[in-house]
Amino acid sequence: MFKYGNEMVKKLKTSRRKFVVGSLAAGSALISSTKSIASNIDDKAITEMQPWNSELGDGVDANPYGFPSEYEKHVIRRNVPWLTADPTSSVNFTPLHELDGTITPNGLCFERHHGGVAIIDPKKYRFMINGLVDQNTIFDLSDLARFPRVNKLYFLECAANSGMEWRGAQLNGCQFTHGMIHNVLYTGIPLKDILKEVGLKSSAKWILAEGADSSAMTRSIPIEKAMDDCIIAFKMNGESLRPEQGYPVRLVVPGWEGNMWVKWIRRIEVGDKPWHHREETSKYTDLFSNGKARRFTWEMDAKSVITNPSPQAPITHGRGQTVITGVAWSGRGKIQKVDVSIDGGVNWAEARLSGPADTKSMHRFYFEFNWDGKPLLLQSRAMDDTGYVQPTKDQLRSIRGENSIYHNNGIQTWAVDKDGIAENVEVS
Ligand code: MTE
Ligand code: CO
Repeated sequence: MFKYGNEMVKKLKTSRRKFVVGSLAAGSALISSTKSIASNIDDKAITEMQPWNSELGDGVDANPYGFPSEYEKHVIRRNVPWLTADPTSSVNFTPLHELDGTITPNGLCFERHHGGVAIIDPKKYRFMINGLVDQNTIFDLSDLARFPRVNKLYFLECAANSGMEWRGAQLNGCQFTHGMIHNVLYTGIPLKDILKEVGLKSSAKWILAEGADSSAMTRSIPIEKAMDDCIIAFKMNGESLRPEQGYPVRLVVPGWEGNMWVKWIRRIEVGDKPWHHREETSKYTDLFSNGKARRFTWEMDAKSVITNPSPQAPITHGRGQTVITGVAWSGRGKIQKVDVSIDGGVNWAEARLSGPADTKSMHRFYFEFNWDGKPLLLQSRAMDDTGYVQPTKDQLRSIRGENSIYHNNGIQTWAVDKDGIAENVEVS
């Protein structure tokens, strides 16, 4: 069992907080009684003067670029030390249990680098297209800025997200089991517009996207996808990409495994067949029990996870009105519905979706209920608009065996005990 979870649990238990009366109405809409939410009538935190009421605060120049409150210092990306030997080829995880809504803030987006972070001087940045095109072309950033732009909200999920959970419950926190995902508003150019500009030969069937980092990440993508919804993106959530996310330009491949979203993209070669490079043969392919591997698995199937409560975020208020929340997504479209179970999948109830979400983006769900203080087995199950329903882990294993690492979208279970402490478990 992983240690972080338990440390976080201890910290949170000591910082128990009560609800204030004013917050009652909105959260209780789906619940018959609101009596279970505590209110403290005689609370000095509101009746007595606090330092922030009586002293002048910092002026506007304190932080020319804003940071979160100093009380939010624990809200950070974290890694799993034993997972990779060297930080330059490693991964850190989005703190899903600390977030709400549907957008992942830039500073909290998980990062996966195969050869460290490339630091690229935007003046020297060049993007080249060659191969089966009418005109081999090199663009600089000012050239790219002259194409019409679009804004699109998409999730990026690493194919290895939940990969450590294939053989059983392992990591104690949704940050570690599901945190190789972020959901960002991208600004960029539809790749099809750039490909039309350089002119595709009729024999063009595939593109090869190549990164400028030391790993020279290279992936083959069918031309149909390139001409569908791929984006050459330079902004995330309104501002320039973070260096770690591919500054100045990355490829966005909506709904498809994160590895194909080449960061620091420097070149697209147009060809007539896939290249079968390292990251699409020895890695990111699914190995079956008979020793054969599926050739390509591009689309990320529908998946969901309850983020609160979860091992890093126990229930601290005791029995009564309790909010369950989580996220759901599908690489094939929109999330139609999320069901929640509090008894390990015996009974299901439909959760409420809320917040901006679009096709191939993260959706937020809520489920409010009156907790009787008895142990829970929490699960969520997503269904997308193709009718696909998120499978159980056992259903996945019955088809894929236990050799897999990638593309694990099985239903997650958290066991919550009578004290509200949650743990990663499996039910069968
Ligand atoms: N692109 C390059 N050039 N180098 C990389 O190491 N990692 C890939 C992909 N694109 C990678 C890359 C992998 S495996 C994933 S999951 C995503 O980028 C991660 O994107 P992020 O770091 O923005 O979360
Ligand atoms: Co990845």
